[in-house]
Amino acid sequence: MAKEHNSTILDLKTITKRFDKLVAVNNVSFSLKRGNLVTFVGPSGCGKTTLLRVISGFAEPDEGRIILDGEDITHTPPNTRDTAMVFQNYALFPHMTVARNIGFGLRIKKVPKKEIDKEVERLLDLVQLTGLGNRNPRQLSGGQQQRVALARALSLHPKILLLDEPLSNLDANLRVSMREEIRKLQRRLDLSIIFVTHDQEEAMSISDLMVVMDHGIVKQIGTPTEIYEQPVDEFVANFIGHINFFPGKIVALSKNKMTFKNSIINLEMDLPPFPVSVGDRLKAVIRPESIDISDKVSPLPDTENIIQGRIESAMYIGSIMRYTVSAGEHTVYVDESDPQYRGILQEGSMANLIFKKRVHMLRE
Ligand SMILES: Nc1ncnc2c1ncn2[C@@H]1O[C@H](COP(=O)(O)OP(=O)(O)O)[C@@H](O)[C@H]1O
Ligand SMILES: [Mg+2]
Repeated sequence: MAKEHNSTILDLKTITKRFDKLVAVNNVSFSLKRGNLVTFVGPSGCGKTTLLRVISGFAEPDEGRIILDGEDITHTPPNTRDTAMVFQNYALFPHMTVARNIGFGLRIKKVPKKEIDKEVERLLDLVQLTGLGNRNPRQLSGGQQQRVALARALSLHPKILLLDEPLSNLDANLRVSMREEIRKLQRRLDLSIIFVTHDQEEAMSISDLMVVMDHGIVKQIGTPTEIYEQPVDEFVANFIGHINFFPGKIVALSKNKMTFKNSIINLEMDLPPFPVSVGDRLKAVIRPESIDISDKVSPLPDTENIIQGRIESAMYIGSIMRYTVSAGEHTVYVDESDPQYRGILQEGSMANLIFKKRVHMLRE
């Protein structure tokens, strides 16, 4: 069997898991490639943990099959699956030293003590805890405890590593540096990881592939760029970042351009990647950073895609300025980068909003 990077390591086939009437995981199919990091991302209660528990064997699916490295493990008990799980609360054994925590699985497997000691040292180095093996977990910071949990999970060389909101208990700065560390380690060791998070930014920054879930259903599977730039529906668009929706109608069509219109906009744009006809109702999905804003006096670029609006609020967030602009009955959000350089527009003043020609369209 192929073992190379990017060959399939895990295949989920039509997995459903119910709790009485509640369908926690609904007909989910998905495959993970060797050496890739995939996130399950979605709001709380959407079924991420349940799906992870099904993969690790702590919960049995009502329907579907799980294939790990070519082997059907749907009914294999958790302790004999080649998976390892890391939890949000670390779940370290409080009465054991760090070294004994990390060596736990190897002791169960009756690996000789000398080998365990050597392996534990190697793992301590790997997660940058060299010299801290004799500490008690209580004597470590949250980030260090999470590294112990990671080292313990890696000790048995699992085929896949399952991380359930591993960074949620850490403060904001540490979360960012720990996610970078996990990503580096994953790349260096070519680990296959499923990483669960409800945090869209975390998911975007760390993933090879994202699985966006809602109410037990997979809404979209794609790279961070695909999810961000080509969301399949309003849920995905809304969940990942800020967004503007403009419902409207196609009023004219040529070979590769169309005119898209509603009460405020009348935009010339490229055709969407699906067939359209004049009269079709679509929804333009536009990120706030994709709209340019300028005051009424500045010379305008040579484009027809401009509408006028009134600045209702101007919120300074340091790296960007977020404007809320009213145009007709619509509210438009616009993010401007480097506001110090560009100059800040005043609340209450009129402004021009400049739209790009390439816009992501959804069918209504
Ligand atoms: N053991 C259980 N018994 C009954 N309902 C459960 C159980 N575990 C999870 N659920 C329900 O299944 C849904 C999905 O939960 P979960 O997988 O924990 O979501 P997430 O991890 O995305 O927050 C939720 O509605 C939750 O209340
Ligand atoms: Mg959960």
